[in-house]
Amino acid sequence: MAKQWGGRFEGKTDALVEALGQSVSYDARLAPWDIRASVAHARMLGNEGIITRADSRKIVAGLTAIAKDIEAGRFVFDPSLEDVHTNIEAALVKRIGDAGKRLHTGRSRNDQVATDVRLWTRDQIDAILSLLKGIQAAFVNFAEAHLDVILPGCTHLQHAQPVLLAHHMLAYFEMFARDRERFTQLRSRVNVMPLGSAALAGTPYPINREWVAKELGFERSSANSMDAVSDRDFVIAFCAAASLTMMHLSRFSEELILWSAPEYNFIEIGDAYTTGSSIMPQKKNPDVAELVRGKTGRVYGDLTALLTLMKGLPLTYNRDLQEDKEALFDASDTVQLCLAVVTRMIPSIHVHARAMQSATREGYLEATDVADYLAGKGMPFREAHSVVGRIVLYCAKNGRRIPELSIKEFRSFAACFEADVVSMLSAESIVQRRDNPGGTSPRRVREALRKAKRSL
Ligand code: ARG
Repeated sequence: MAKQWGGRFEGKTDALVEALGQSVSYDARLAPWDIRASVAHARMLGNEGIITRADSRKIVAGLTAIAKDIEAGRFVFDPSLEDVHTNIEAALVKRIGDAGKRLHTGRSRNDQVATDVRLWTRDQIDAILSLLKGIQAAFVNFAEAHLDVILPGCTHLQHAQPVLLAHHMLAYFEMFARDRERFTQLRSRVNVMPLGSAALAGTPYPINREWVAKELGFERSSANSMDAVSDRDFVIAFCAAASLTMMHLSRFSEELILWSAPEYNFIEIGDAYTTGSSIMPQKKNPDVAELVRGKTGRVYGDLTALLTLMKGLPLTYNRDLQEDKEALFDASDTVQLCLAVVTRMIPSIHVHARAMQSATREGYLEATDVADYLAGKGMPFREAHSVVGRIVLYCAKNGRRIPELSIKEFRSFAACFEADVVSMLSAESIVQRRDNPGGTSPRRVREALRKAKRSL
């Protein structure tokens, strides 16, 4: 293989080095962003008289034609040319001759790749932000369609207190609202232009960074050329934000998996999002939720790979940095696919409201409210807590539920019990009483729904 930029070499490159060093098999997807950045750079070079306007125009026309070929699938990327940048530059020179050789004036692949990846990441963030809005809307619609459904709220996966299913679903709305905040903040840190940093130290040409930044929609230009060519914080931060979104998707998936198990039988996920078994004809498995849960580990892996990649790198650019792309692309593709699939799966979920409701009869979900009742009668809460503990033990030993106890039985534990205790122990009235901001009462949940809709 002939050596690229071979002027200072006498020997050939080892045959295996191409396999190790080529990145075009995966970074070819950066081509549209690479060309946008190159067009802006070439126009600036022409405007500033660094190259002639005629050459600048030829370059822009050549790049535009190459972009069309790539889009139409007519462009052949050659791994012996290493990466997307050199493939496009070589094609340009082939197409327009010497003018093409002037494109790289005043820049380096180091600021070029950093610019491309930032442009690409900015677009992915925009796509993710709209997917996050979409999944939030799915949770709002689902909550609204099930406003009267009550289920056991759990801590330690043990029945704790009854809650509205809508309240449970709006908990996920909040998680994805935080994800949106995170990606929004990240967007402005990503939106900084490295171009003009050249290899590491800047360039002596009289370039106009402000013009290029504006042309490419960057909020500002990087302040330090050495930082700009070697910083991949934004790639790591992107994978960290994607990891948190995956974690949220994974927790939801886990609940769907549990809830569709026969032991719960709380829900049935639609046919489009479940699969059969190759041997057991009766099976309807929640594979989609399981795959989302599984893919979460893979995105954490991307994050870990990048943190490890960066930790020992001296300033400035090191070739190790080429390894940032597959992890970044994988995290981005995975989080976008999973967000889209889960958003579509949500409306397919059929709720077994009766099963949820009858589960609230198990596990003494009324216990806290009985203690609150006694505290309301003047008993210190700690004492009330232990009285109710004895009531629960009595029920457990005798196979009874708290609301079934007679007033006589209640009084055998504390004299201040009165007949009104029983009426306050239905799941509905327990839920109703949690009426402070952030609580599960129907009034508060409807209020939260209104607020959620406004934020979309
Ligand atoms: N493909 C390279 C990367 O992704 C582009 C930059 C190459 N720069 C260099 N000095 N070898 O990192």
